[in-house]
Amino acid sequence: MDWGMKNRFSKIIRPDTGRTVMLAVDHGYFQGPTTGLEEPRKTVEQLLPYADALMLTRGVLRTSIDPAVSTPIVLRVSGGTSILKELSNEGLTTSIEDAIRLNVSAVTMSIFVGGEYERQTLLNLSKLVNLGERYGIPVLAVTAVGRDMNRDARYLGLACRIAAELGAHFVKTYFCEDFEKVVRGCPVPLVVAGGKKIPEQDALQLTYNAIHAGAVGVDMGRNIFQSEAPVAMIKAVRSIVHENATVDEASILYNLLKAEETKPKVPAQ
Ligand code: R5P
Repeated sequence: MDWGMKNRFSKIIRPDTGRTVMLAVDHGYFQGPTTGLEEPRKTVEQLLPYADALMLTRGVLRTSIDPAVSTPIVLRVSGGTSILKELSNEGLTTSIEDAIRLNVSAVTMSIFVGGEYERQTLLNLSKLVNLGERYGIPVLAVTAVGRDMNRDARYLGLACRIAAELGAHFVKTYFCEDFEKVVRGCPVPLVVAGGKKIPEQDALQLTYNAIHAGAVGVDMGRNIFQSEAPVAMIKAVRSIVHENATVDEASILYNLLKAEETKPKVPAQ
């Protein structure tokens, strides 16, 4: 990695802890106005101070995020599909020049290993890595999992290793049983997605398990912004990732902060 690439990378993965809490709000690029993200500006505003990086598309970045923000941006540059059709048929949507103009810290796209358009998405990744190398911009590969795939260590290990072999600088994947095996087989840092909304305690457990199995952090979306108390949740996740809190400690913190966040506001007299 050259200096520029290392510099961008260190904005995403905190050098003091070697870990990261990324906030993913890119879901709309294929599923439209996702619950909790109907108005991205409102959702993101309150969470931004607690996110080490923000993952989103250029459309939402331009329309909904204050350009004065200091949070590093991980820009999704793949798409072209919707939940109504074959999801693996993605292309690269955003030029590297636009990513540079937007001053992003990394670019990201999905690969669909085992999907109908597997080859196309893997070649997209290779092309994006070539562009990232040219301009010093790290590439985050997301291992998207098709309906017919098993989210197990064998499958995720395969997908993550392929992403790393093609040159991805870090990889986002799902947590699974025997996640240590996925970590061991992947020579670049891994962050885990949260997946569908689950109870807060379970999402905190997932975070804890992922970190203790060797992930460098989370790139979490729905389990934060769909939580009853999103700010409390991201703070609880941070306590595990950056402060080595246990699940019990993080749950206590979540419940304390939730009580505050959900307290009915008394109108000013
Ligand atoms: C999916 O491809 C997107 O990258 C999402 O941002 C990702 O799944 C992470 O969000 P969540 O924690 O909601 O799964």
